[in-house]
Amino acid sequence: MKQFISANDVTNMDALVKKALAYKANPFKDKLLGAGKRIGLLFLNPSMRTRLSTQIAAQNLGMEAIVFNVGSEGWALEFEEEAIMSGSTVEHVKDAAPIMGKYFDVLAIRTFPSLKNKDDDYSELYIKQFIKYAGIPVVSLESATLHPLQSFTDVITITELLQQRPPLNKKPKVVLTWAPHVKPLPQCVANSFAQWMTAWDGVDFVITHPEDYELNEQFTKGATITHNQDKALKDADFVYVKNWSTYTDYGRMYCNDPRWMLTQQKLLLTNNAKVMHCLPVRRNVELSDEVLDSTNSIVTLQAGNRVWAAQTVLSEILAHG
Ligand code: CP
Repeated sequence: MKQFISANDVTNMDALVKKALAYKANPFKDKLLGAGKRIGLLFLNPSMRTRLSTQIAAQNLGMEAIVFNVGSEGWALEFEEEAIMSGSTVEHVKDAAPIMGKYFDVLAIRTFPSLKNKDDDYSELYIKQFIKYAGIPVVSLESATLHPLQSFTDVITITELLQQRPPLNKKPKVVLTWAPHVKPLPQCVANSFAQWMTAWDGVDFVITHPEDYELNEQFTKGATITHNQDKALKDADFVYVKNWSTYTDYGRMYCNDPRWMLTQQKLLLTNNAKVMHCLPVRRNVELSDEVLDSTNSIVTLQAGNRVWAAQTVLSEILAHG
């Protein structure tokens, strides 16, 4: 693996999941693989889970991990080619990224979208410029449109739970449901989850959201999409709860109907579904306390599995990058 920025960088998802679960069973089995190697973790935006799990993953492989909070502590970076840098940006990525390529063996980057200009965000300029100029493998810690380490974790988590229960006589039903929020959020997690679910042969995948919240078709092609949440939830085995802002009329919050929040009552429609969320979650806005604190919720298991996703990706890059 030369880079990890989307599901398209994965050639065999099932093999990757198997490797991740093997790391979960034996975290230090490749503890010398990354000896003498260094990963730079660049954060242009905040994080808890991604930052800590990737550091732990690197350490499990014997790598040194250095965190740089570029967004709050570094020089303001310019990403546009041929920019006249007379404004607030101080250093061009063309100058900064090659230096990082000298300091590190792998570079991992978190950037968020502006949610102001769809074309700019969906061009993935920031991560593409790092790939172009760093000269070393690049891992996305969440980009403007995708969150691949989160989605890989989600596939690992669903697989792990399916392996722990008697086989179903059909493909498990996985539902991605939109949830209310207090502010417009990126589409990254939803796009990415849809991309990984539609690329994975193992599930019957349904997306439900209010009108106006259609996602970019490049990620949802192959999914069943409905505005009827109750219908979507019927017999679901896994329900992934997430807010996202509008894609078509970009970055807005239209309907914010609190009836879209997942409650225990709604879970009765499902096949005693396990409930997922990438976190952080707004309690009693996106998901009710009663669901989050119930045995249906697997959000902590899911967040714990972030380590094994990151460790697997780094090991693939170290071995084949
Ligand atoms: N799910 C996730 O990416 O969490 P953080 O923003 O805390 O990294």
